[in-house]
Amino acid sequence: MADDTLFAQVLDPAHRADPYPLYARLRATPVARQSDGRVVVSSHAAIRSLLHDPRLSSEDLPPSRRPRTGNPIRDWFLNPIKDRIANAHRPLIFRDPPDHDTLRAFVMAEFGIERVRALHGRVAGLVDELIERCRGRSEVCLVEDLSYPLPVAVICDLLGVPEADEPQFQAWATQLATALEPDARADETTRRANAATFDAIAAYMRALIKQKRRHPADDMLSGLARPAPGRGRMGEVDLIATAILLLVAGHETTVNLITNGMLTLLRHPAELERLKADPERAPRVIEELLRYEPPVHFRTRKALGAIDIGGTVIPEGTPVVLLFAAGNRDPARFRDPDRFDPDRDDIEHFGFGGGLHYCVGAPLARIEVEIALVALCRRLRDPKLLADPPPYRLGASLRGPERLGIRIAGIW
Ligand code: HEM
Repeated sequence: MADDTLFAQVLDPAHRADPYPLYARLRATPVARQSDGRVVVSSHAAIRSLLHDPRLSSEDLPPSRRPRTGNPIRDWFLNPIKDRIANAHRPLIFRDPPDHDTLRAFVMAEFGIERVRALHGRVAGLVDELIERCRGRSEVCLVEDLSYPLPVAVICDLLGVPEADEPQFQAWATQLATALEPDARADETTRRANAATFDAIAAYMRALIKQKRRHPADDMLSGLARPAPGRGRMGEVDLIATAILLLVAGHETTVNLITNGMLTLLRHPAELERLKADPERAPRVIEELLRYEPPVHFRTRKALGAIDIGGTVIPEGTPVVLLFAAGNRDPARFRDPDRFDPDRDDIEHFGFGGGLHYCVGAPLARIEVEIALVALCRRLRDPKLLADPPPYRLGASLRGPERLGIRIAGIW
């Protein structure tokens, strides 16, 4: 009989460094009900089909309820109002059509390829500057020295957040990323910290949007704040929720892809050398990384009605975990799936999800990670991992190393 506690084991930090053997066991029952009531979907075919199934809802979160503070005005008056507003204005990643599609259209209109390409020079400059800061050292921590500061600086640039406010943004992004983990809402301390962070960042955004409306610039927030022909204007609360989503969705994920990327290349030194000699290989390397070591391992949806998939019925109301990282290593879909092979041609991965919620930041992420990995391979002299496996952060869904110590002989 299938082990119905396998997903609980996936969530256990003890398996963070190598969850793949658990995923292989889960795939033996591609649609598997767990003892906690969740259904975990782990085969490539079933995930692919469900990503395009309108009966799966992304509005899977329970209504937000701020933790009690002991202050009656807050507990009975202010916070219930805030909760109602927050519940009505979830960011688009937690919304279904038609609201999802309306909000996404605003974002897509501002995420044109020209805007993304224009960031190329800025990303390259930042990467150079961050690597240059490591000169004279014999050890670096990739997360702290490059993977972490780079994406937050890029998102601030994209949105039009002043450079001086970036450190504050980094702290907010780190805290809010915990809200994407399945069990975060159950933990009172995390909920309290997330509510406080959300209030702080929302107040900051409100002021910044006001300023952008008065003095529009050529940035995404100014673009989102102005009325779009045929679509009208995005409401203030949705605008704030969207800006916060872009910060959170684009930060931790990119951090993890850069870090996982370098970790994987250091574990496969021949591939590192090939990339170093031929940077044109970068797009292949990155697509394979998104399959082999993706930053987002799973997302949870909810079944709006009973869904029959491959002979198994998922009952209405069931939380459904789409285990992207397991589908990415499905032997029924990929030859030799546990092998890191940038030369494979058939590479339909779920690294950026799929269907309606496919990542809007994918082109930007690809540019950032490509520039970072190529520069790291070319400029770090004789890099060696200090610990393998490295220590991991707690998150099972947004999974990635907490630190990545690398010994270097210098900077080229
Ligand atoms: C390597 C980096 C990245 C990875 C691996 C990644 C991965 C993903 C995945 C798997 C989803 C689908 C979520 C779902 O199905 O529920 C998603 C959605 C999303 N991503 Fe990314 N992402 C990355 C970078 C970015 C960046 C740089 C941005 C923006 C600056 C961004 C913004 C978003 C947004 C707004 C959504 C929600 C789209 C929707 O619900 O329609 N992401 N991302």
